[in-house]
Amino acid sequence: MNIPTEIRVQAETLREQINHHNYRYYVLDDPEVPDAEYDRLFRELQNLEEKYPALVSHDSPTQRVGAQPLAAFDEVQHVVPMLSLGNAFNDEDVLAFARRVNEKLDSEDTVFTAEPKLDGLAISLLYDNGVLVRAATRGDGMTGENVTQNIRTIKSIPLHMLGNDYPRLLEVRGEVYLPKAGFEALNKRQRAAGEKAFANPRNAAAGSLRQLDSRITATRPLAMFCYGVGQMEGGTLPKGHAAILQRLKDWGLRVCPETQTVQGINACLEFYRHIAVQRDQLSYDIDGVVYKVDDPAQQQILGFVSRAPRWAIAHKFPAEEAITRLLAIDVQVGRTGALTPVARLKPVEVGGVTVTNATLHNQDEIDRMDLRIGDTVVIYRAGDVIPKVASVVLSRRPQNTQSFRMPDQCPECGSDVECEDGEAILRCSGGLFCPAQRKEAIKHFASRRAMDIEGLGDKLVEQLVDAGLVQTPADLFQLKPETVAGLERMAEKSAANLLTALEKSKSTTLARFLFALGIREVGETTAQNLANHYRTLDAIMQTDEEDLQTVSDVGPIVAVYVVTFFKQAHNREVIEQLLVQGMHWPIIEAVETESLPLTGKIVVLTGTLNSLGRSEAKEKLQALGAKVAGSVSKKTDLVIAGEAAGSKREKAEILGIDILDEAGLLELLEK
Ligand code: IVH
Repeated sequence: MNIPTEIRVQAETLREQINHHNYRYYVLDDPEVPDAEYDRLFRELQNLEEKYPALVSHDSPTQRVGAQPLAAFDEVQHVVPMLSLGNAFNDEDVLAFARRVNEKLDSEDTVFTAEPKLDGLAISLLYDNGVLVRAATRGDGMTGENVTQNIRTIKSIPLHMLGNDYPRLLEVRGEVYLPKAGFEALNKRQRAAGEKAFANPRNAAAGSLRQLDSRITATRPLAMFCYGVGQMEGGTLPKGHAAILQRLKDWGLRVCPETQTVQGINACLEFYRHIAVQRDQLSYDIDGVVYKVDDPAQQQILGFVSRAPRWAIAHKFPAEEAITRLLAIDVQVGRTGALTPVARLKPVEVGGVTVTNATLHNQDEIDRMDLRIGDTVVIYRAGDVIPKVASVVLSRRPQNTQSFRMPDQCPECGSDVECEDGEAILRCSGGLFCPAQRKEAIKHFASRRAMDIEGLGDKLVEQLVDAGLVQTPADLFQLKPETVAGLERMAEKSAANLLTALEKSKSTTLARFLFALGIREVGETTAQNLANHYRTLDAIMQTDEEDLQTVSDVGPIVAVYVVTFFKQAHNREVIEQLLVQGMHWPIIEAVETESLPLTGKIVVLTGTLNSLGRSEAKEKLQALGAKVAGSVSKKTDLVIAGEAAGSKREKAEILGIDILDEAGLLELLEK
């Protein structure tokens, strides 16, 4: 197909605009246009390329994700070896390095460029005529792996350098890493999907680059900072390391913004202390700083020892991993009732901080590591990230250890623990009573859409609970004006207003009251449906899971939450007290349903229906007065069996219950 010139120009202009905005966003950290505008340009280019496939170029910003997974990574020989750095673990080591440098250069005040030492993976990017043609890992320094497909998915790495004054061939080197926020988000996703969480951002970055399918890598929010060059042909670079970094930045490559050029080794040590303080606030993990002699002529004089330059050194922060013993696993209850296991550790110094606890997330995490009390464990801590148990040293496991199981009862209030659907989260069902959930339960109870207690805001709830005046929602109604007036920021007038509001709130509706109880997954609509269906609180408190599922909007999960909630003696007590305090609502009249064709009939739907959805069928049957249940029992009056109906149909046959097929259902609904 012949592509009109104006279309070619349009595509090229779009690519330039997109690359420019990428540069503003990722390299300068100063976006010029809102995300929506960027997305619009991107879609416009995608549409053009879809219409004219011959327009697609390998370096188009739309072509970041490869279609085909690789069978294996190819080897890449590094023309200029990728070296490592010597380490300094304290000021003395650094001063010794400076003495060696100064002696050899015969200078007192060498100029250094100081950079954070990024905790990721060293990567080499090869640009041929400005186009990214190959990306490789460091490997052993001589031979690495070709990870081009994966590196291309990293949006902050330009597929085409900016400007036109770049060398014909240029190898740029730097560190690919996973920002802390991206790491937390990735682990959350991994856990939710029942997959293994990564121990730290570095492992996560390495795991992401090791994917043979670049579509997976594309979902990992990797980033890169460039810190040097390797091979170069057909071009020149400025004289000085910092100037080279600035030039890389002009060409569209990201450079760490913390980098500074300083004079003399004391200024280097000052930089180290400055970065150490900043460390927790940085959006990426670092494990030290690097000092590099800035002048290339001086670098050449200094040369190399074995595999490291004599002109640079890594000044490391204290180790972030340590080994200690797991003394116990405690279970904490959060303010929304979530149960979290916490590792109690023999105190150990990690990264300059004494660690005594670590989060374990959930039972799955404990099972995956087969963590047992008494185990020797590896603790990992990075910056402000809460310490984690990274792994178990199995060879040091004492005899007679036992697997750990999360409790069936809430350690705070003894209520039953329930498992949240699909997730490994356990939750206490004693919402109204549990001390851990007190504040949240009362805030919700008082909120506008629940009991609507005017003047009882979050702050006041916290004050009341902290002062020990209120433990459950029922205690609110026993408050005395003088105690309330005695609280900070409360005067007689506001106290009186609150008591009036409390009194007023007693006159409510059953739906609001149900919503106010804070039963999991029971929002306003479900509360209203429950109220309409059962009409009295007693009926709801006495019903079972099977019957609950005949209520519109209520499935098996919500049914369990409702039954479990009302089964808790503590919750029932609080409800009883609330009624004694005078909570009341209008009687709900029975809707006249006697005349409907299916009034009082219990119907079960099973198998696949072709002409209407399951919930649509349920609604239509309910409109005819039927109760739609989830399982077949002796009480069932009618089973609607769609295609491929299985055990429910069989059970209905055994029990001699009437069965209708889809055609029969449609006929019934016609009536
Ligand atoms: S320069 C010849 N600069 O540290 C010097 N390396 O032990 C080559 N690293 O493999 C490296 N941040 O993965 C340099 N700002 C930085 C760095 C850095 C992290 C890593 C890199 C390298 C290792 C050397």
